[in-house]
This record gives sequence, structure tokens and C-alpha cells, in this order.
Amino acid sequence: MTHRNRLGANIDHVATIRQARGERYPDPVFAASIAELAGADQITCHIRGDRRHIIDADLPRLRDAVQTQLNVEMAATQEMCDLVIPILAAHPHRHRITLVPEREGEVTTEGGLDVITNQDLIRNVVQKISENKIYVSLFIDPDPLQINASVIKGIDMIEINTARYCEGHDEELQRIKDAAQQAQNLGFEVAAGHGLTHHNLPPLVSMVPEIIEYNIGHSIIARSIFVGLDKAVRDILAIIRA
Ligand code: PXP
Repeated sequence: MTHRNRLGANIDHVATIRQARGERYPDPVFAASIAELAGADQITCHIRGDRRHIIDADLPRLRDAVQTQLNVEMAATQEMCDLVIPILAAHPHRHRITLVPEREGEVTTEGGLDVITNQDLIRNVVQKISENKIYVSLFIDPDPLQINASVIKGIDMIEINTARYCEGHDEELQRIKDAAQQAQNLGFEVAAGHGLTHHNLPPLVSMVPEIIEYNIGHSIIARSIFVGLDKAVRDILAIIRA
């Protein structure tokens, strides 16, 4: 089956610049619209416990402005469920929540979820999300045991953590490939993300056609400073749809 790879443009770091000055600009909602106009298939944002980029008030604004799909990454906590689920539930567009681990003080997400150790918690949170008609994805390391443990009713997608590959561990490509095939065989759609750039994407795209969605943030926003957001998004799209 042929497919057109999807890009989830993560606009968190537009909000990082805004929060650095406690200003109202630059506005991540504006960035979301530019990314969509350039061809992004999804807008991804991550609401963190410390609100260092996306803040609560951004979520309903993004939900209303995004014309494609909004993918909100969050920790599987009561606080995040109470905040995010009511905003995305009962909206005419069916949006997505991606569950990610979060450690206080981390610079960025440090790894995939430990679904094996946290089965009951994750099952409960997935049920709450999916009964509100929101798609659910889990952010998982390319680890066969974690992927097997992710067979939980309500989950339609696994996002494979590409961080180790992007740190220069080329042998990770094979692990990602195996994990993507395993996830696909288990009936999941397969996404990938973390640390992806226009340099490290081409080998991944050609070697792992099982991946149908890429969530990319830091490199797009960083490049946009020099080439503009429209071009930064289009350049990445040209690679993932090659
Ligand atoms: N996917 C997930 C689950 C993430 O947590 C992040 C970082 O917020 C990304 C993708 C994007 O990573 P990057 O900003 O390195 O492209």
C-alpha cells in the first residue's frame, strides 16, 4: 500500500521564545498556521508540568486555529488529563494525545514510556482519552518488550523514539526498523520523532517505510530563524515525501 508520509510540525519552541521574555509574541498559533499553509499535516505541541513553552491558554487557541489535526504530547498524570482532555473532547475535529514520560528538570523528553512498569496507569489514562473520542499514541523506545506491552485497547499509533539514532548511533536504524515492523504487525500506525533533522532524516525515510508520520520540532524552528518557517517546513516535507 502506498502512502504519503505525514509531518507533525512541533511549534513548542516558538512558545519557548515567547516565554523567555514573558511577552505575547511570537505566537505559536501563528506558527501553526504558517506550518499548515506550508503543507504540515498535523500540529504537535507539548504541554509540560513547568509550562516552559506551551501554556494552558494556548491549547484552546491551537485547537480552534488548527485546520488539520492537533497532537498534544503530555505526561500521563491526573493534572494533564484534567487540563487537556476537556479541551480536545467533543470537538468536530478528532484530535490526538501522545503520552510521553516527563522527569522534573529534564531539558527534553529523555526516553520512551515504560509501559511494562506502568501498565495499569497507562491503561487507565488511555481509556479516559479514547472514551472522549480522542486518538491516542504512545511514545516508545525501539524496544520489542515495550512495544509488545503497548497492545492496549484505544491506542492506534506508536511513536518510536529516534533520539539515540539522532545522537549518532547508526546501529539504531535497524532497531527502529524492527520496532516499526513489529508495531505495524500488531496493528498500529507508526510514527517517529525526537532529534530529527534534514541531515539524519533521509536514511530513516528510505530504510523504514513503515513510518507514516514524523513529529519534528527543534530542527524546524531552529532553521526557521535563518530561512523562514515556510521554507523550513517545505524542506522537511520534501525529504519525508521523497
Ligand atoms: N515527539 C515527541 C514525543 C517529543 O516529546 C518531542 C519533543 O517534544 C518530539 C517528537 C520532537 O522532538 P524534536 O523537537 O527534537 O524534533
